[in-house]
Formats: sequence, structure tokens, C-alpha cells
Amino acid sequence: MQLLAHLPLLSLFATATTGLQLLQYDIPAELLELFGAGNPDPVASSALLPSASSASSASSASSLSTGTASTASSASTADAAACYYPATFTLNNFTTWSPATNASLSYVSFQYVDSGTKITTPCAYNATSQSLTVGTGLVDRYACDNSVISFIWQKNKLTAIETTCPGQTATKFEASGSVIPAGLKCAQTNGTDDVGLGQGKGTLCLSSIPLSANFTSQEPSPLQN
Ligand SMILES: *[C@@H]1O[C@H](CO)[C@@H](O)[C@H](O)[C@H]1NC(C)=O
Ligand SMILES: *[C@@H]1O[C@H](CO)[C@@H](O)[C@H](O)[C@H]1NC(C)=O
Ligand SMILES: *[C@@H]1O[C@H](CO)[C@@H](O)[C@H](O)[C@H]1NC(C)=O
Ligand SMILES: *[C@@H]1O[C@H](CO)[C@@H](O)[C@H](O)[C@H]1NC(C)=O
Ligand SMILES: *[C@@H]1O[C@H](CO)[C@@H](O)[C@H](O)[C@H]1NC(C)=O
Repeated sequence: MQLLAHLPLLSLFATATTGLQLLQYDIPAELLELFGAGNPDPVASSALLPSASSASSASSASSLSTGTASTASSASTADAAACYYPATFTLNNFTTWSPATNASLSYVSFQYVDSGTKITTPCAYNATSQSLTVGTGLVDRYACDNSVISFIWQKNKLTAIETTCPGQTATKFEASGSVIPAGLKCAQTNGTDDVGLGQGKGTLCLSSIPLSANFTSQEPSPLQN
């Protein structure tokens, strides 16, 4: 009885271990434990790029598990809060505006998508945004509308940060990964152009392509509260 009860977990673990190899970072022990307690298949779907067929991803994931027992068992687990690992992210409509005169009026905006954790949220910072790291000495970072996601824009590189399994670990973990925006098309704005978040002379740049990247680290957040 004891042995049988453990079987579903073991097969889940085998499934996930296969998926976890695709991750580009190590999983801290506390997260691995959480995963062992019933995370269905954190990576198999999220590590595939959105263009890959989700149908084939689903079928290959289920063929990796040893039977329907594990699926039924995980579905009936009372803890419905699924915990998926951030593996990849995509930024759509990445836009920056840099005013000619006052750099502190710059803005950045984009739509953030993590198809693995199923998070889609607008992200922006502008002259009125408050950095999450004020008073910490850390580089400025800004929350997206969904505060599970935050970002750093520095030296033309965008670093996305996603809280991992929010609320499910004693330590707050976060995954991060960076992308240097490609395909930027820039134009000068003049004194009367209204560019949405700002107005006046400056340079408005828009990436015409989705910007995809992998998360490459998984660390305790420097902002634990
Ligand atoms: C990008 O912006 C255009 C124009 O505002 C909009 O039609 C399109 O849906 C946006 N794409 C995404 C992926 O948000
Ligand atoms: C630049 O913009 C910031 C934010 O609105 C403002 O506090 C500051 O006074 C401006 N600086 C100049 C030189 O206009
Ligand atoms: C400025 O950025 C904040 C996020 O920091 C956003 O909520 C707000 O809508 C932006 N302002 C405008 C005018 O879009
Ligand atoms: C500013 O640029 C817009 C197009 O972006 C143009 O229609 C307008 O005439 C320009 N205004 C001035 C004062 O140059
Ligand atoms: C993301 O990781 C996958 C698998 O390790 C790799 O094939 C892919 O090139 C990476 N993508 C980027 C943008 O680095």
C-alpha cells in the first residue's frame, strides 16, 4: 500500500526530470521539494517555443508518464495552485522613447508573455514609475501590471524577472533572463508628436518582432518582502 501510494509521485518526478533538463538554471532544493509534492509537468510545455504545436507537447508529456494514474492523482490533489517553472519569455511590441532633452522622462513599454506559466501582462515604466528597489542600492527595477513580473532596463538590455511559484515557498525565488532588443525601428519625434506616454522631441523605437529569451538564473529574491 505504502509503495503503491508512492508510484504516482515517482512517475511524475520522472516526467519532470526530463523536462527540467531543458531549463537553463539549477533548481534550488526548496523548489524541488515543492515540485516533488505534486507539480504536474513544469517544463515540458513551457520550454517549447510558442510556435511548436501545443498538441504534440501535451501528448509527448503524457506518454512520458507511466499511465493515467499519475494524471488522475495530480488532478485530484487539493493544492490546485499549479507551480510551473519560468523557462522562457517573450516581449511583444517592445517600445522605447527617449526625449531629446530630459532623459528622466524616458519610457519603456512592452507586453510580457510567459506561455509556460500562462502569464501575459503589460509592462511599462515612465516618468511617474516608482522603482521597486528604492533605498536598497540595487539597480532600478519596475513592476509590470501583474506584479509577479518585474523588469530592469539598463544599457539597452532588458532583464525580465518572474517570481517562481509565488506564495508557495518560504523563500521568495525569482527567475531572470535577459534580451537585447532586436529589430528596432526608430524615428525622431518632434515637439508636437504625442507618442503615447510622453510628448515632444525625442527618439521613438519599436521592435517589429517578438523578443524571446530563456530564463538563465533562479535565485532567492533580493526583495524578500
Ligand atoms: C502590437 O501593437 C499593435 C498596434 O498597437 C497591436 O495591433 C498588436 O496587437 C500588438 N501586438 C501584441 C502582440 O500585443
Ligand atoms: C526632467 O523630468 C523630471 C521628471 O518629470 C523632472 O523632475 C525634472 O525637473 C526635469 N528636468 C528638467 C531639466 O526639465
Ligand atoms: C506609467 O507607468 C506606470 C507603470 O509604472 C503605468 O501604470 C502607467 O499607466 C504609465 N503612465 C501612462 C500615462 O501610461
Ligand atoms: C511633427 O511630426 C508629424 C509626423 O510625425 C508631422 O505630421 C508634423 O507636421 C510635425 N510637426 C512639426 C512642427 O514639425
Ligand atoms: C533557449 O534554450 C533552448 C534550449 O536550451 C535553446 O535551444 C535556445 O537556443 C535558447 N534560446 C535563446 C534565445 O537563447
